[in-house]
Amino acid sequence: MPKVVILGAGAIGQLLYWQLQPLTPQLLGRRPTPPRISYQHLNGHIEHQAPRYLQLTQGIDADTDLLIVSVKAHQVTDALLPLLPELPSHCAILLLHNGMGPHLDVAAHTGTRPLLLGTTSQGALRQKLWFVRHTGHGITHIGQYTGVPLSQTIRHSLLRTLPDCHWQQDILTALWQKLAVNCAINPLTALHQCPNGALAAAEFQQQIIGIISELQQVAAAEGQHVKQNELLARINQVINLTANNQSSMLQDCRHHRQTEINAINGYVVVRAAAHGLTAPLNHDLVQRILALSPSSEQFLGH
Ligand code: PAF
Repeated sequence: MPKVVILGAGAIGQLLYWQLQPLTPQLLGRRPTPPRISYQHLNGHIEHQAPRYLQLTQGIDADTDLLIVSVKAHQVTDALLPLLPELPSHCAILLLHNGMGPHLDVAAHTGTRPLLLGTTSQGALRQKLWFVRHTGHGITHIGQYTGVPLSQTIRHSLLRTLPDCHWQQDILTALWQKLAVNCAINPLTALHQCPNGALAAAEFQQQIIGIISELQQVAAAEGQHVKQNELLARINQVINLTANNQSSMLQDCRHHRQTEINAINGYVVVRAAAHGLTAPLNHDLVQRILALSPSSEQFLGH
């Protein structure tokens, strides 16, 4: 059985910890060890546990086979890079966050170890610091980005243990598709202070088409050919399936937390510039979200 450590005890980190119980994972975080953590299943049943928890200052176990990094995109490099010298050389790393970008920095430091990327549409909400509620079914896609091929044992353990989890040969395509969903839903719901379902109104559809047509050109320049009508259908499906939800960016803005705008629309703008393109609609959304965000947050593309 592979030894799995989850770095980051936010809503998704805690959800994965509970779902991966058959593998007896460990949580790794900044906070002191909590005496008890709790989990509410989709059916309402609540479980409690004294967690297997390691504080970052205690270091990481030398027999770790897989480190799942579930901190927010803007925290990935600061959280992960200092740990790399401590990780055994065979240990695989899985980055699982909204948005794109950190994989480019991280891959420059991970050498031959398997670097996996993933995306999940499972819903999780932290009721309290150490109480997470599973709020919705969702699909998880995982695939390998760089390094020597991942061991079959780890791959099968993940696919068997996580609900609706699939291996994706070309994980970047799945990430660009998810990025399109986030580029449309997150900033528009945050700016209009509305639940996801409000974006089904006709007035938003033209705007969404503009956002994804810029994204599609940038993705094509990166060798990812995603179709605009498929992206639009996928976005509208998520809008309908999550109609009553508040997007993560709306919640971040409401709580005056740093948003993930740099890893979402900001990533499109930065990659556009790398290919001599522009993405003015995405750029405008970045600026408008930053105007609502804590003053410390800046556009990383400048
Ligand atoms: O960030 C979010 O809120 C979610 O990824 C999504 C899919 C936009 C639904 O709210």
